[in-house]
Order: sequence, then structure tokens, then C-alpha cells
Amino acid sequence: MKFSLFNRTAGLRAGQHAVVTGGSSGLGLALSRRLATRGLSVTLVARDKARLATAAASISDAVPSAVIDYIAVDVADSEALAAAFDSLTQDLDILVNSAGIIREGYFEGLSTSDFHDVMDINFFGTVNTIRATLPRLKQRRGRIVNIASVAGLTGVFGYTPYCAAKHALVGFTAALRFELEPQGVRVQLVCPGEFESPMVEDLDRTRTPENRRHTLTIPKLRIDQLADATVAGIDSGQRLVVPGAQTRVLVTAQRLVPSVANAIAQQRISAVYQGPDR
Ligand SMILES: NC(=O)c1ccc[n+]([C@@H]2O[C@H](COP(=O)([O-])OP(=O)(O)OC[C@H]3O[C@@H](n4cnc5c(N)ncnc54)[C@H](OP(=O)(O)O)[C@@H]3O)[C@@H](O)[C@H]2O)c1
Repeated sequence: MKFSLFNRTAGLRAGQHAVVTGGSSGLGLALSRRLATRGLSVTLVARDKARLATAAASISDAVPSAVIDYIAVDVADSEALAAAFDSLTQDLDILVNSAGIIREGYFEGLSTSDFHDVMDINFFGTVNTIRATLPRLKQRRGRIVNIASVAGLTGVFGYTPYCAAKHALVGFTAALRFELEPQGVRVQLVCPGEFESPMVEDLDRTRTPENRRHTLTIPKLRIDQLADATVAGIDSGQRLVVPGAQTRVLVTAQRLVPSVANAIAQQRISAVYQGPDR
């Protein structure tokens, strides 16, 4: 099959249908609202039905013309997910994988089940969702947008499970892209730094001081800034979207001068270091 390395998919278009996992909260909800504003119909996916209904209603309030539906399912449950998508009647143009959880703490204080939970949802949840939707995406020559993190490009204090899952997601996305782009499916990766969301509100109650200092090398982005930059990146067909100028500088520094970036991180962490045995 013929394909161009520089093949670019046309941007988002009114009338397309998007499925957004994690669409009931945070970035998934903010992206869904923006897609609805652009005239796309959106199906939100998350576990909690009441929260999904509230999220769908909030989009309909903001965008009265919005066509919004939702599916309550756990992305970690591959069988339930496949059954849920089997009952979906619409075509599918865009899959956004934003469902995710976080566990933060000293490695010695985290359990093996913390690692399984984070891998099952953040990594396998994305694999499962792509598997369940790929035939439809291929039919429409659609696109997949995986929401990873800067924590998928580097190490972050306190994020041993989260970094492992997000690094897995970044590698999976890079490999999958080579397979799917010749088949007409665009694969995009979004790596945000920290932004304001319910996930981070929870994290702020319990996070280690080292994690707080390390992650806040760059100030948190507001969710509206993050979502606007993410939609712009998706729309323009970028393969890697890193929202926020400061975050892009950090990611570039980590790639070009890793020893300097690591030295800065170590200095910030050592200024507040407590460790697990305090
Ligand atoms: N916030 C940040 O600073 C930050 C930075 C970089 C990357 N990210 C990534 O961005 C994405 C969104 O984060 P956020 O901060 O917007 O999180 P959030 O507000 O906590 O939203 C997470 C969403 O995922 C859903 N979800 C969680 N587990 C699920 C499961 N097993 N099956 C289906 N849905 C599930 C949640 O709904 P239910 O609980 O009802 O299922 C919720 O809708 C995540 O992948 C996160 O790792 C976040």
C-alpha cells in the first residue's frame, strides 16, 4: 500500500463523531465540550453513570446544539468494553483516550496492586479501547488521540507506577503509528505537564513534598489553556502535542541536554527531600 511519511489527515469537521474516554471529568470533559462546539457529536466514556450524565448535561447547557451520548464502562474490562462498542450504531471518526488514574508516593509505600491499577487503566485501558474501535476507525480513516503525559517522556519523583504506564503508552503509540498510518488512521500523542483538574486536586491532598517540588518546576496550566492547545494540536494533525511553551522547553531540554535537566530536577528534589523513612 502506498503512503506518504508526510501524510496529513484533514482537521476536525462538523458532523464527525468522537468517542472520548475519561469524558466525564477534567481534560476529557474539556475536550468533549470543545469538540461539541465545533459541531462534532461526542460519546463520553467513563465508569460513573451519574457523573457522565452530569457531564453530558453540562455540555448540552453550554452548547445547545450538541449531540452528546455516554457509555458507562470500565476501560480496563476488555470484554465489557467490546460489548459496549458493539452496541454503538454511529460511525466513528475520532477516539480520544483520556481515561486515567494516578497513584503517587514513595516506591516502598506503594503496593503491587497500585502498579496493576495504573497499568490496567492508563495503559491497557487504551489498548482495549483501540482494539474495540479500530475496525470503525479504519472504515472512516479516522484518528486516535492518546493522552499520555510529560511523565511518559521522563522520570518524575513519586510516579513510579504512573511513569511506567505513561512510558508504556508513549512506546505503544509510537509503534502503533507505523502500523495504522498506512491504513489511513492517524495516531496522535498528547503529553501535557501538570494542569488543574479533579485528579490533581486529589493528588494535592496527599502528594509527597518531593513530587510537588519536582512536578511544579513548571507552573500548572489552567485546564482551558490545556484543552485549547490540545484541540489546536489535534486539529493541525501534529503527531506529538506538548501543550504550553514552558512545557515544550522542558521536554526539549530533557532530550537535548538530559544531564542539565536531571541536575535541575535533583537540585529541586534535594531541597525538600524527606524520603520514605522519615
Ligand atoms: N491532570 C494532570 O495534571 C495531567 C497531566 C498529564 C497527563 N494527564 C492525563 O490526562 C488524562 C485526564 O486526566 P484528568 O486530570 O483530566 O483526570 P480526571 O479529572 O481525574 O478524569 C479522569 C477521567 O477518567 C475516567 N476514568 C478513570 N478510570 C477509568 C476507567 N477504568 N474506565 C473508564 N474511565 C475511567 C474518570 O471517570 P470515572 O472515575 O467515573 O471512571 C474521569 O472521567 C489522564 O490520562 C491523565 O493521566 C493529566
